[in-house]
Amino acid sequence: MVPKIIVHGGAWNIPKRFHQAHLEGCSKAVQAVYADLKNGLSALEAVERAVNELEADPTFNAGRGSYLNVKGEIELDAIICDGKTLNFGAVAAVQNILHPVSVAKILLNHPEHCFLAGNGLKDFLKEHHIAEVAVEDLLTQRELVYYRKIKGDPNFTTRKPFEPAPGDTVGAVALDDNGNLAAATSTGGTPRKLPGRVGDSPVIGAGAYADNQLGAISASGFGEAIMKILLAKLVCDNFKDLPAMAAARFGITQLRKRVNGLGGVIGINRTGTYAYCHNTPFMAYAYYDTKKGIVSHIKMDGMPSDRV
Ligand code: GLY
Repeated sequence: MVPKIIVHGGAWNIPKRFHQAHLEGCSKAVQAVYADLKNGLSALEAVERAVNELEADPTFNAGRGSYLNVKGEIELDAIICDGKTLNFGAVAAVQNILHPVSVAKILLNHPEHCFLAGNGLKDFLKEHHIAEVAVEDLLTQRELVYYRKIKGDPNFTTRKPFEPAPGDTVGAVALDDNGNLAAATSTGGTPRKLPGRVGDSPVIGAGAYADNQLGAISASGFGEAIMKILLAKLVCDNFKDLPAMAAARFGITQLRKRVNGLGGVIGINRTGTYAYCHNTPFMAYAYYDTKKGIVSHIKMDGMPSDRV
């Protein structure tokens, strides 16, 4: 198989002044792993490393640069999925960690459990000597300003269509030269969320899914809607009978039709064809094209007729 990788930096109403940083951040994440992927890096390692790049980049709502919850705290969700085994690792509402996807990756190899949250997750971090970082390492001035702006606004709601906000969830999907697929998603969730709120990102089949027999997907957007239709699994199931792009489009159509949801997906089907679609005003993504090299986009290529 020719290795493939696609990453996203969120489907949202990303303000124009942040577009360049989104394009560059997504391109850098592909750049950081593609040479190694061509030289035998596994799809799992590739998606973890690509998402690590995006988590460290303050442009995105994941790791550094995440939204603050209503109490002014940062709580992160992440998942990583292995298409060969259908195994996954996921963490929810974890604090003081720069790379939650790497904690999820450790869980992927846990003999008993896939998904951790709460005090047990804190113990797990200690047991695995995962260094906590100071809040200041995750918090950006941009998010502090945004938090103060929306904190007391009685009209603010994350469900308001196309509320302009700095960014969203990140994710990566890869296919390696052995034909194995993997997907990973990492997020700071939604702005001004309730403490303990968990979105779609760490939920298997919602925020990500990977199955070598179908394909792999990472999703972004309004988690409460995405979870209800298990968007990532829905698109993967449709890879069976539809061309890759049509399957992505079907998923996003259902997101709107069934649960009035807004979001986007990126993916790769089992034959190595890329898929991407969104119905938010913008989604940032980049992928490696064997002829053109790294291709990055941030544009309205979703479904204009479906927009509110
Ligand atoms: N899609 C990210 C979230 O809703 O938490």
